[in-house]
Amino acid sequence: MAETIALISRKGGSGKTTTAQIMSAGFTSKGAKVLCIDLDGQASLTHIMGADPTGKSIIDVFTNKGNITDAIQHTQTGDIIAANSGLDLADMRLTGQGREMLLKKALESVKRDYNLILLDTVGAFGVLTLNALAVANGVILPAQADILSLNALKDSYDLIQSARENVNTGLKIYGVLLTRFNSRANISRDLLAMFEQAAQVMNTRVFNSKIRDSVAVKEAQAMQTDLLKHKPKNNAAQDYSAFIAELDGIIKAEA
Ligand SMILES: Nc1ncnc2c1ncn2[C@@H]1O[C@H](COP(=O)(O)OP(=O)(O)O)[C@@H](O)[C@H]1O
Ligand SMILES: [Mg+2]
Repeated sequence: MAETIALISRKGGSGKTTTAQIMSAGFTSKGAKVLCIDLDGQASLTHIMGADPTGKSIIDVFTNKGNITDAIQHTQTGDIIAANSGLDLADMRLTGQGREMLLKKALESVKRDYNLILLDTVGAFGVLTLNALAVANGVILPAQADILSLNALKDSYDLIQSARENVNTGLKIYGVLLTRFNSRANISRDLLAMFEQAAQVMNTRVFNSKIRDSVAVKEAQAMQTDLLKHKPKNNAAQDYSAFIAELDGIIKAEA
């Protein structure tokens, strides 16, 4: 049965998509079967995983334009259900009762085929993010170490609390992942203390592994390749490898 993880943050540019891409590649190379679902109409994950953006999206699955297995594309770094700009209209198109449970229902028939399902969401919260929170076991909150991202964490937490009350009582928060981190900047130390405090309020942790800023991340994405294989010694690659091992330990400990 798949572990299902939603990457959530109210702010764009937090590293949700980058983290989804690298987690998919990392767990795939460890032998796990991974399915990513791109829930952002910008289709960034679809693009950097080298998937076909004209393929069926999750909305096509919801609106019965095909079954879920037809929508799954295979790549070297994991399977993916692609996104396209049609997802931007999700809030208008998905209006029926039970609209927040569509993803959970759709995944029912395939979740046994995967060890890990990763849900990459969009910063503007809407019905698709609610669907992600309804089906996920746990959430990862990627955030840049800046004050606006700290403020945005509260919005994410409010949404998670609402999901817990309404659709998914057992939803866990695995932790806050600091991305694009520069440990040498003085401000980061103070901010880190504030993030740790915020994590405590949410009854979770800031992951020990923090992802340093590195141009290699963007290079690998431009080349649609796996950073961990492309430049394993790069700072961000090492940080992501450490994060994957840390998360794996937490998931096993909390299972
Ligand atoms: N560790 C990193 N080092 C350098 N650039 C990064 C890093 N993580 C993310 N980026 C870049 O920051 C931008 C935003 O990241 P992205 O993962 O798309 O965020 P989100 O999905 O939350 O909007 C992208 O251009 C991405 O390439
Ligand atoms: Mg994104």
